[in-house]
Parts: sequence; structure tokens; C-alpha cells
Amino acid sequence: MTSADTPRVLHVVGSPRGEASVSTRVARAFLDAYAQTRPGHEVTTLDVWTADLPRFDGDLAIAKLAPLVGETRTPQQEAGWARVERVVADFARHDKIVISAPMWNFGLPWELKHYIDLLVQPGLSFGMNEALEHVGLLADRPVQLVLTRSSPLPEGSPEDFQLPYLRHILGFIGLHDVRSLVVEGTTLRPAAREELVAKHCDRARAAAADF
Ligand SMILES: Cc1cc2nc3c(=O)[nH]c(=O)nc-3n(C[C@H](O)[C@H](O)[C@H](O)COP(=O)(O)O)c2cc1C
Repeated sequence: MTSADTPRVLHVVGSPRGEASVSTRVARAFLDAYAQTRPGHEVTTLDVWTADLPRFDGDLAIAKLAPLVGETRTPQQEAGWARVERVVADFARHDKIVISAPMWNFGLPWELKHYIDLLVQPGLSFGMNEALEHVGLLADRPVQLVLTRSSPLPEGSPEDFQLPYLRHILGFIGLHDVRSLVVEGTTLRPAAREELVAKHCDRARAAAADF
């Protein structure tokens, strides 16, 4: 099925709660509806909690900044950096991105933030123009966010470090076509929760038509 021009969709799973995850379930409804109308498209899942990702540690933080400050990476840092390059290249080869994630302490779960720390790299996903302004280096492509949280927050709330952060960091690397589907009030007893999930799965299926 895979060919050079087969459209590729990447689903980045940000919740570690497996089948219990509302964000993953709603994102899957989105992707199932998407796949039904685009049977040739390839959909790949990257669960940031189980994927074999390099750990963005001190060596990688040094490797990230080394070229900017005229330092040479050690062989170990070069080897680590090669793994980071592969993470960015793998993300970049997808034509469309779906990110599903809960709010954790007003922001993102740490493994998803860690994945972002791997993706956002000078010379790979962002750079500088002649006016020394940051520019995203990735080609723009549609991104669908499926975000969950227990407590409803008004749009634009200063307490929301989930949706605005994702919009900002994706824009920083060049991705501006960001759509969002937010599911709030998820801490419910099972019957009410299933009703909420079913309602938002319907919204997700409708949104998939334009993705
Ligand atoms: C560690 C942790 C921190 C959380 N922090 C928040 C929060 O700051 N605001 C909020 O509204 N809900 C918070 N929640 C609730 C989750 O966002 C909510 O249960 C969400 O629906 C879980 O999504 P999931 O089922 O996809 O994992 C938190 C949950 C956990 C486990």
C-alpha cells in the first residue's frame, strides 16, 4: 500500500490511559471516520508513553546548543543527536498530524512535552531569517488536536497552558493549520462519561470530513 505519494497521517497519543483515555477514544473516532473516506491513506500511531524515544537529557541539551555557541559535540552527543534527527524526520514525513492529549496540571502530560522537546530543534524544525527572527522550517500541514480536561475553561483563559501552548509551539516550527476539538467535564460516572464520549465522537467524525 505504501508508496512515495501515499498520504500519511500521524496520530500522536499523549494520554497514558490506554483504552480508558477519552482523548485517545475521540481521536480514534476521528481517524476511523477519516480512514473510511480516504481508504488509501496510511495512519500511524505514535504513543509517546511506549515509543522508543531518546531521552532529552543533559547531553542532548548540550548537543542542541553546541553549534549555536561554536562548540563541538562529543561522539556520544553526536550519536544522541542522530536519534533526535530521526524523530524530527519521522514527524516531518507525515502529511497530516493528529495529537490527542489530556490536560495535566493546566498543561501537557510530561511525556508529550518531552516529545515536543525532541521535535523543536534549531536547523531541523526552526531557524532564523535574515532579520534574526525565528522561522518554522517544517512545511505547513493540517494538525487536529483532540484535547480533554476535567474542568471547563473559557476560551482564552490564562489558566489554559494546553491548547495555547500547542498552538504556539506548532506555529513556531511552521505548523499553522491547527484545528482543535476540546472535551471538557470528563470526570464523570461511567454512564454519563460514555454519553459525553459518544457526543464528542460524533463531533470528531464530522470534523474528519474536512481534514
Ligand atoms: C496528573 C493529572 C493532572 C490533571 N490536571 C488537570 C488540570 O489541570 N485541569 C483539568 O481540568 N483536568 C486535569 N486532569 C484531568 C484530566 O485532564 C481529565 O481526566 C482528562 O479527561 C483525561 O484525559 P484522558 O482520558 O485522555 O487521559 C488531570 C488528570 C491527571 C491524571
